[in-house]
Amino acid sequence: QLDEAIHGAVRMQNIVRDLKTFSRIDDERRGDVDVQSVLESSINICWNEVRHRATLERDFGATPPVDANESRLGQVFLNLLINAAQAMPARGVNANRITVRTYTDAKGWAVIEVIDNGTGIAPGRMSRVFEPFFTTKGVSEGTGLGLSICRNIVRDAGGTIEVRSELDRGATFVVRLPASTREASVNTSLAPPTATPGARACVIVVDDEPLVGRSIRRALRGHEVEVFTSGQEAIARLCSGAPFDVVFCDLMMPQVSGMEVFRRVCEQCPDVASRFVFMTGGAFTQPAREFLERTPVLCLEKPFELRQIRDLVTERAEPVD
Ligand SMILES: Nc1ncnc2c1ncn2[C@@H]1O[C@H](COP(=O)(O)OP(=O)(O)OP(=O)(O)O)[C@@H](O)[C@H]1O
Ligand SMILES: [Mg+2]
Repeated sequence: QLDEAIHGAVRMQNIVRDLKTFSRIDDERRGDVDVQSVLESSINICWNEVRHRATLERDFGATPPVDANESRLGQVFLNLLINAAQAMPARGVNANRITVRTYTDAKGWAVIEVIDNGTGIAPGRMSRVFEPFFTTKGVSEGTGLGLSICRNIVRDAGGTIEVRSELDRGATFVVRLPASTREASVNTSLAPPTATPGARACVIVVDDEPLVGRSIRRALRGHEVEVFTSGQEAIARLCSGAPFDVVFCDLMMPQVSGMEVFRRVCEQCPDVASRFVFMTGGAFTQPAREFLERTPVLCLEKPFELRQIRDLVTERAEPVD
């Protein structure tokens, strides 16, 4: 039971970390967004709330990249998932089902459906659910803003959001987003305001949360960025002999942690150890704290400013020979 409590605490910290990722790293920037990975991040954030109320099923078909802001889109999916979980009647978790479906429609748009078999919406209320402050929940449970925010975000991205529902059978929210028409030339206009002077650096990011890697990659346009979501794969790359300038490595990862990555790299190829920069979401276990105390490696606290990352890379990409 203690184990579970600790596990829960760590998960909470992960959630806080992910929320921070959503709210800070990305600012207002738009870009090609992969719908499935945003969904995964949203699911990760509310998983603790959802799993006690319903089983969740993924039915992910291929979708084109969409032109949107990743954090905002994450917020849309998060709101829909939480609504679905909250709409579940008190019955066995196994009887309550949420399905997240993605596919590409005939127009080539990305479609995301959040389907639940909860209480559903009365026909008379259907047209009102997207209104700001419309809620059927208690004061402590809802402000009625969730869906109106969703609608604004989806409209901003050029898309639509609709609902279908049958009372007592459940509800389906359908988000449609046009495929991105962004081209390589457009991307340069999104480049960070501080132009990258001089050398093109090779940067490696190791973080189990794909959103972090993608955000850093965007922040470092002009540099070469390789992203790994598993410590194991990262070790292989870091010790492959192929050169790189900096590695940003998450400290707390499932399976192979950042500490383990560092330890193994120090054993196998000690000369690259000095290129490490750790990242943490503030979730320190005792071993992690001790590790940081005796390891002379820079550690960035999430959420960090993207400028910090850019400056660090510029600094470290100076020719070393
Ligand atoms: N999946 C769903 N099943 C049944 N009813 C829903 C569902 N999603 C939304 N609703 C209805 O629409 C109303 C408005 O939803 P919305 O997300 O805008 O606000 P809220 O959930 O009440 O509060 P908030 O999101 O601000 O916490 C809800 O109160 C609920 O009555
Ligand atoms: Mg809501």
